[in-house]
Amino acid sequence: MKKRVAVIGAGPSGLAQLRAFQSAKQKGEDIPEVVCFEKQSNWGGLWNYTWRTGLDENGEPVHCSMYRYLWSNGPKEGLEFADYSFEEHFGKQIASYPPRAVLWDYIQGRVKKAGVRDWIRFSTPVRFVRYNEGKGNFTLTAHDMVNDRMYEEEFDNVIVASGHFSVPNVPEYPGFDKFNGRVLHAHDFRDALEFKGKDILLLGSSYSAEDIGSQCWKYGANSITVAYRNAPMGYKWPDNWKEVPKLVRVDETTAYFADGTSKKVDAVILCTGYKHHFPFLPDDLRLKTANRLAAADLYKGVVWVNNPKLFFLGMQDQWFTFNMFDAQAWWVRDAIMGKIKIPTDRKVLLKDVEDRVAGEDAGEDAHDAIHYQGDYVKELIAETDYPSFDVDGACEAFFEWKDHKKNNIMTFRDNAYRSVITGTMAPKHHTAWKDALDDSMESYLSN
Ligand SMILES: Cc1cc2nc3c(=O)[nH]c(=O)nc-3n(C[C@H](O)[C@H](O)[C@H](O)COP(=O)(O)OP(=O)(O)OC[C@H]3O[C@@H](n4cnc5c(N)ncnc54)[C@H](O)[C@@H]3O)c2cc1C
Ligand SMILES: NC(=O)c1ccc[n+]([C@@H]2O[C@H](COP(=O)([O-])OP(=O)(O)OC[C@H]3O[C@@H](n4cnc5c(N)ncnc54)[C@H](OP(=O)(O)O)[C@@H]3O)[C@@H](O)[C@H]2O)c1
Repeated sequence: MKKRVAVIGAGPSGLAQLRAFQSAKQKGEDIPEVVCFEKQSNWGGLWNYTWRTGLDENGEPVHCSMYRYLWSNGPKEGLEFADYSFEEHFGKQIASYPPRAVLWDYIQGRVKKAGVRDWIRFSTPVRFVRYNEGKGNFTLTAHDMVNDRMYEEEFDNVIVASGHFSVPNVPEYPGFDKFNGRVLHAHDFRDALEFKGKDILLLGSSYSAEDIGSQCWKYGANSITVAYRNAPMGYKWPDNWKEVPKLVRVDETTAYFADGTSKKVDAVILCTGYKHHFPFLPDDLRLKTANRLAAADLYKGVVWVNNPKLFFLGMQDQWFTFNMFDAQAWWVRDAIMGKIKIPTDRKVLLKDVEDRVAGEDAGEDAHDAIHYQGDYVKELIAETDYPSFDVDGACEAFFEWKDHKKNNIMTFRDNAYRSVITGTMAPKHHTAWKDALDDSMESYLSN
């Protein structure tokens, strides 16, 4: 009997897993039967954009946290697949900060070429997974939404690739229930034009606050106020953008801050992050971790220490994304196929996690964090046949990116970097990001 492997989610991580198995098959290896369950009707995970918010057409929570005019917030040279370059996909080198639709197209290109679409059961949320002590395998319960049918199947391994930037962390502040404008989480933000001419307040001081504020600025918001809880982002913001200490309360029209100042605002956008949320996993299989580089309880960042037949992909906070998911997926494939041995002594697994946590904690700044995650990617790819690439070069692109942001937060996307896969320099985009209101794929590729 062939081993059966379930992959939960067909976002970039789950698709990396399918490609990893398919590449072994292409080389003539005998791979397990792989079944991928995806609750959306198409692949791409967060990159599969929808206008919907709240519940989807099946009554499931909408997964998408992306918005209409989202562009990559880091250089594409940091995320390029080592086995499928941007040049291979687009037939030419393209500019460094592609809009969402362009990256979605790129993600799809590789898996279309691999021919793995029929490994995926779409519109099929996984409802539950349980471990069968006696049989040493898992029973997975799925809901086929097209035929409205629930069923169970058994698998030898389960790989959770369901993402962790989809279930919003939604704090409440005094007065939200009386505020006259909209209060929404970044997860439900879609079109910046909704806030044209408006005064908006954002809570949070991380990527969502920076990027949603920038979008709203680009598309004509009247003013942007960002309230930080611990530290401001500290960029040189445009004149109509202010960072203020934390929000204390709101009344019908006005927000009041910890420094005693106040501001009349039309809407509040909570850019307050996301939760690792696995409603389909019981207590003994459920990952509970902070959003950090050394995720809790995962040997090598992927193996569930309490049951090494269960794997998680992409659960770390992310400097590296697509190529890190690849490194993880190739490693997990080889662990499942017996080419990599997972230690049987639980103490060894726990010590690995402990060392990773200490390693992350020893870092002092973003520079160290980027190196730390780069080293992790190197460690995994050294143990598999994933094409080796210049990870340090990708780190360099991230360092340049950080400097460009410090220089000017509204022009950093106008810079270009060198591909560490093909060695080619990206062209500069034909239009400055702040003026590029049309961010369709056609427009972006017309350089
Ligand atoms: C607003 C935003 C912008 C971002 N921008 C960038 C960027 O510019 N560059 C970058 O590299 N990264 C970016 N990211 C990071 C992002 O996490 C990764 O790019 C990537 O999408 C993660 O892939 P994933 O497959 O791990 O998770 P996801 O993309 O979240 O995919 C998970 C998949 O699992 C499915 N799923 C979930 N639960 C179930 C279930 N119970 N049953 C079946 N299927 C299920 C979902 O439908 C989804 O398709 C961004 C994230 C956010 C939130
Ligand atoms: N264009 C893009 O590509 C783009 C755009 C947006 C997001 N993203 C990605 O999306 C992911 C998530 O980013 P994120 O910014 O949403 O989440 P995040 O990085 O986890 O940051 C969450 C922020 O919320 C704040 N916060 C949490 N609870 C709060 C509370 N109760 N009150 C006030 N503030 C609170 C945190 O403050 P403290 O710092 O004080 O803890 C932090 O600043 C990242 O990987 C990012 O790269 C990408």
